[in-house]
Amino acid sequence: MKLRRLAALALCGVMALSALPAGALAARREKMNADDMDIPAILEDTQAGGTVNVYHWWTAGGEKDAIESVVDGFKDVYGKIKAKSNAIPGGAGGAMVMKVKVLQQAGKSPETFQAHPGQEIEPYLNSDLLLSLDQVWEYADLSARALPGIETLCTASDGSKYIVPIGIHKTNVIFYNIHVFEKYGVAIPDHENITWDEFFSICDQLAAAMPDGEYPLDLGDRKGWPACQVFEDIMLGTDPQIYEDFINGNYSVEDVTAVLSTYARMMDYVAPDHSSRDWYEASGQVVAGTYAMQIMGAWMQPLLTSMGQVYGEDYGVFTFPGTDGWFGMCIDGFVVSNDSADVGSGVRWAYNVSTPEVQAAFSALKESISPYSDTPDDTYCALTLKFKNELTAEGTKVYPSFTHGTALPWSASTSLQTQIQEFATSTDHDAAYFANKIVNILKEAGVKGAWNLVD
Ligand code: GAL
Repeated sequence: MKLRRLAALALCGVMALSALPAGALAARREKMNADDMDIPAILEDTQAGGTVNVYHWWTAGGEKDAIESVVDGFKDVYGKIKAKSNAIPGGAGGAMVMKVKVLQQAGKSPETFQAHPGQEIEPYLNSDLLLSLDQVWEYADLSARALPGIETLCTASDGSKYIVPIGIHKTNVIFYNIHVFEKYGVAIPDHENITWDEFFSICDQLAAAMPDGEYPLDLGDRKGWPACQVFEDIMLGTDPQIYEDFINGNYSVEDVTAVLSTYARMMDYVAPDHSSRDWYEASGQVVAGTYAMQIMGAWMQPLLTSMGQVYGEDYGVFTFPGTDGWFGMCIDGFVVSNDSADVGSGVRWAYNVSTPEVQAAFSALKESISPYSDTPDDTYCALTLKFKNELTAEGTKVYPSFTHGTALPWSASTSLQTQIQEFATSTDHDAAYFANKIVNILKEAGVKGAWNLVD
């Protein structure tokens, strides 16, 4: 696995978390500083009481069971602390950022909440809202246990760690329904790393054979992010250098136009009402056979499992065209507020998600790759193990997702999601017009990164 980042998460247009009404300020609790806390003693105090409100966005089949198992299991370690699951639906974290902002302003910061490392958490740091988890990393030996590259991605711009990773998913995946291919006599390639030509040829064959009302592809982009994720996959699959330049803020209208032109071509095969469904509803329709394929991160696996689907029998995966040898990286983790009602319980939660016991149970249900090398391979189902082996293989290159918080600031990412969803739902898919709008978003957000993905 290879990922180099020159200067960590520099810069960027920062979302203002600070403009608080006076009343809200009064309601805020005192901020704790990790330097004044004996974190090992807190973690070892298994008799402590309290409450940990856990905010997350795992509401789809499979992922919901995975997080609920961690919430339920918390009492096995910290029996006197009440762990409460608070689900903020939406996926990808956009709704979470808004929810947390409101809670913080009301003086009700959650003890812990789900986040992606990287740019997504920088605005909280700029407003001094997170507790440093350096001591947790040290206590749980996470630097030694983390898979290569993960520690770097989890290190904030100030050099400290504020997040404990719980799972990893690959983003550049196409899921397909094997039975649909068989039904319409479309040959399934004997290799997963299909080329662009193969991809479009499959789309053509499916489109020709499928009756009205059925389509080769769906986006499920009622929330904008699935459309944006397709955009980032196409961008990497067009030219990794374009991706690197984009997240570094070296925007080029021509490059983005090229990416959107391919996107426009792909839209010929997508169900026209794609934006009326959430991603998991689209997945349900893939299982039902209405759509043959869905471009989605590997968190679609546990959803398919929850619907009784078996990898290799009912569904298969392709590597997104042009991205062979690349692993689109989406890391989920938990951060801890420094001003919640029970900061100690937040710290205990963050530590607990990293333990080998929780990692084994969670990774199996979420079908995610554990960020820690001591999670045994027999934890994983066949597909997750395949993805894990890809991630850790010599020579695999990693690219951080910008749809899922890591590579672009939210101020840019959320506007991007809106624009790309608009592009996808527009009738003429005018690549040059939307490329200009997209480049303007990066410009306005002042995106300036220092990622080095390509060499
Ligand atoms: C991502 C997250 C995944 C999955 C997905 C859809 O941001 O990293 O684990 O939850 O959203 O909800």
